Amino acid sequence: MRILITGCAGFIGYSLSTYLLKKKIKVFGIDNLNSVYDLKLKKDRLKNLQKNRNFKFFKIDIRNKEKLNQNFLINNYTHVINLAAVAGVRKSIKNPNSYFKNNVNGFFNIIETSKNFKIRHFIYASSSSVYGNSKIYPVKEKNLTDQPESFYASTKKINEIISYSYSGIYNLPCTGLRFFTVYGPWGRPDMALFKFVNNILNNKKIDLFNYGNHFRDFTYIDDVVECVYRLINKPSKLKIPNEIFNISNQKSHNLKNYVKMIEKELNIKAKVNPIPLQKGDVKKTYGSVNKLFKFIDYKPETDIKSGLKNYIKWYKKYYI
Ligand SMILES: NC(=O)c1ccc[n+]([C@@H]2O[C@H](COP(=O)([O-])OP(=O)(O)OC[C@H]3O[C@@H](n4cnc5c(N)ncnc54)[C@H](O)[C@@H]3O)[C@@H](O)[C@H]2O)c1
Repeated sequence: MRILITGCAGFIGYSLSTYLLKKKIKVFGIDNLNSVYDLKLKKDRLKNLQKNRNFKFFKIDIRNKEKLNQNFLINNYTHVINLAAVAGVRKSIKNPNSYFKNNVNGFFNIIETSKNFKIRHFIYASSSSVYGNSKIYPVKEKNLTDQPESFYASTKKINEIISYSYSGIYNLPCTGLRFFTVYGPWGRPDMALFKFVNNILNNKKIDLFNYGNHFRDFTYIDDVVECVYRLINKPSKLKIPNEIFNISNQKSHNLKNYVKMIEKELNIKAKVNPIPLQKGDVKKTYGSVNKLFKFIDYKPETDIKSGLKNYIKWYKKYYI
C-alpha cells in the first residue's frame, strides 16, 4: 500500500499521517504550506512527521497539475486521501476566488490525476456545512445538501458531485467524508476552540457568534483518524463505487454550555462578547453516524469533557 495524503501539514492530515506511521504504514505527504494560519504550527507538525523515515514530504500545490503528474509518476501511489483545501466558512465569503482555485480546481487536478494513475481508492474531505440550515436532525447522508449557506460549502458539494461522476464514468472508487467540527491537539488556530482558550487565558474577550445560540457536533481528532484508517481498504462495492459518510460525534452542544465547560477546565471565567449570526454560519450541526457505524463497525465516541481536557493540556504545552 502506498498512500498519498494531501494537506499533510494541516490539522487532520498531520494527525492521520502520525496515526498511519504508528501503524507502520508508509506515508507520502503533499502540502503547499500556505499561510492561511500560523505557518509555524504547520512547520512544527511537519518536523514531527519528518522524524519518521517512513514519511516522505513534497512541497507541492495541488493547483499545479503538471507537478502532481510528475509526482504520481515517480511514486506509484495506490491510495490517495485528499485533505488539502482552504477551510472555514466565513473567510470563503470574503474570498471565494481562493476557495474556488484551491478547493475546486485543485480538487479537480488531484481526482483527475488519481483517475489517470488508476488509484485503488480516492478518499477526500467534504464537510458538514453541505447540509446548510437543515430542518431535520440528526442529518443523514441522504438528506438535502444543495442549499449551502457559504461558498466553502458549495466547493465541498462540488467535490462530491465531481467524485460521483468520476466513480461512474471511470470506475474510480471514491469516498467523501463529511467532517463535523474536528478538534483536538494540534488543532487549527482559526477555529473557535483555539480562540476561546487563547483569549480566556490572556484575559481577552471572546466573540460569541449568534449570541451563543449555535449548536455544534464536535468530533475528536483521534476518533476521526480511526474512522479514516478503517475506511482506507474499504472502497465502495456499489455498481457506481461512490460513498459519502458523516464523521460526527452524534451529539450537539450549545455554544454557551461549551464555553462553560472550557471555563471549568481552565478554572477561569470568560469575558464574553455576544454578537449576531455571521453570514455563512449554520445554526446547528448534528450528524447521524449510523451509516458509518454499519460500514466500519466503529463510531466516534470521545466525550466532549475528556476531548477538551486533552486539547487544553496540549495547548498549554505547545503555547505556554
Ligand atoms: N477541521 C474541521 O473541523 C473540518 C471540518 C470539515 C471539513 N474539513 C476539511 O478537512 C480537510 C482538512 O482540514 P484541516 O482542519 O486539517 O485544515 P488545515 O487548514 O489545517 O489543513 C489543510 C492543509 O492543506 C494545505 N493546502 C491548502 N491548499 C493547498 C493546495 N492548493 N495545495 C497543497 N496543499 C494545500 C494547507 O497548507 C493545510 O496544511 C479540509 O479539506 C477541510 O475543508 C475540516
